[in-house]
Amino acid sequence: MPIDIGLNEKARETSAQALRVLLGDTYALYVKTHGYHWNVTGQRFNSLHNMFMTQYTELWTALDEIAERIRALGHFAPGSSAELMANATIKPDNGVPDADAMISNLVKGHEAISRAAKAGLKIAEDNNDIVTVDLMTRRADIAEKTAWMLRANL
Ligand SMILES: [Fe+2]
Repeated sequence: MPIDIGLNEKARETSAQALRVLLGDTYALYVKTHGYHWNVTGQRFNSLHNMFMTQYTELWTALDEIAERIRALGHFAPGSSAELMANATIKPDNGVPDADAMISNLVKGHEAISRAAKAGLKIAEDNNDIVTVDLMTRRADIAEKTAWMLRANL
């Protein structure tokens, strides 16, 4: 059945592509944050272990919202971790960084998400796709707030 939500095929495709990029980076940062939750060591173990859990839980929830927005636009969401990672600019670490390096890697990750969300926001704005504009705005807001909270630990 054809989709009639006031967005033409090109608008739905370019919005979906911006969402795929955001989804890829959100997935890459989710995996990184969950790994840090498991592997962090040092005197701040308890506070960092718990802070990372709050953050990966939020990222995991966001994945579902972003993927489902792609579906609502009439496109399929990536169905494997390889496909998700192919769209990500955030790359996995080699080995286990120390606690401060974990924090700064996560700051960089949230900053990358903020940039991806803002680039996507511009595309969605050009498409008059206000639902995606709203999603991108909320993701940038949370990414910047999370980056601040991480930075405050350094
Ligand atoms: Fe856990």
